[in-house]
Amino acid sequence: MSLQAFDPEQLKFELAGKNPRIILKTALSLFDNIAISFSGAEDVVLVDMAAKIRPGIQVFTLDTGRLHPETYRLIDTVRERYPVRLEVLFPDAASVQRLVNEKGLFSFYQDGHHECCGIRKVEPLRRKLATVDAWITGQRRDQNQTRAELAEIEIDSTFSTPEHRLFKVNPLANWSSAQVWDYIEAYDVPYNELHRKGFVSIGCEPCSRAILPHQHEREGRWWWEDAAKKECGLHAGNLTSADRV
Ligand code: ADX
Ligand code: SF4
Repeated sequence: MSLQAFDPEQLKFELAGKNPRIILKTALSLFDNIAISFSGAEDVVLVDMAAKIRPGIQVFTLDTGRLHPETYRLIDTVRERYPVRLEVLFPDAASVQRLVNEKGLFSFYQDGHHECCGIRKVEPLRRKLATVDAWITGQRRDQNQTRAELAEIEIDSTFSTPEHRLFKVNPLANWSSAQVWDYIEAYDVPYNELHRKGFVSIGCEPCSRAILPHQHEREGRWWWEDAAKKECGLHAGNLTSADRV
């Protein structure tokens, strides 16, 4: 099917509730220039599924410079294990240097994570997304209240421009964490060692921590901030305009 030949709303309707593999297959048949955004956590299941459908698929990860050693190890395990084109993206060095020299290495604990995430994640992501027609993420509806309405496929309202319509595909949207872990175990998928140390949602080292069994996974991320605002800018489209202020 050509890009012009499908109606995004119709596709969204057709893919709602479908198995992640079907969603991936459909997305890969629609888009040649599509990439998986891999965080180094449970979203490794997407790499496993997609590499079987399209060996050589583009995968990218945003190296903020603040990831855990366990995450770096998983990224390289994935590079060795799967037939994918794994690209590690870095932030603009001058911007990081300016932030750190003006405000120190932990300014996010004082004035929130948006400035640091903006430099270390969002800007390199924006650069990458300008080069593809669609991106694939591991977001799930059960991860956070901000993701409760997440669709399996959507036009990316945050990173599309008037000249460049970008699609965002969320094959795991309707899966639970338990389904993801069933898959990891069933197919012997490599995973981040931090998951064995009480971490559920994993981002940068200073902004992720282990949680207790009764806690929600997002309580381990940016725990000093309001739950309704826990999106770092990668998925800002999930926030309502009231949340963004
Ligand atoms: S975040 O916005 O809060 O950091 P989260 O950790 O839940 O996101 O991950 C959701 C999805 O965002 C991941 O499955 C992945 O697609 C993408 N993502 C998050 N962090 C990264 C990263 N460092 N590199 C690439 N993709 C990422
Ligand atoms: Fe900076 Fe924390 Fe955002 Fe990582 S998660 S980019 S360390 S604020």
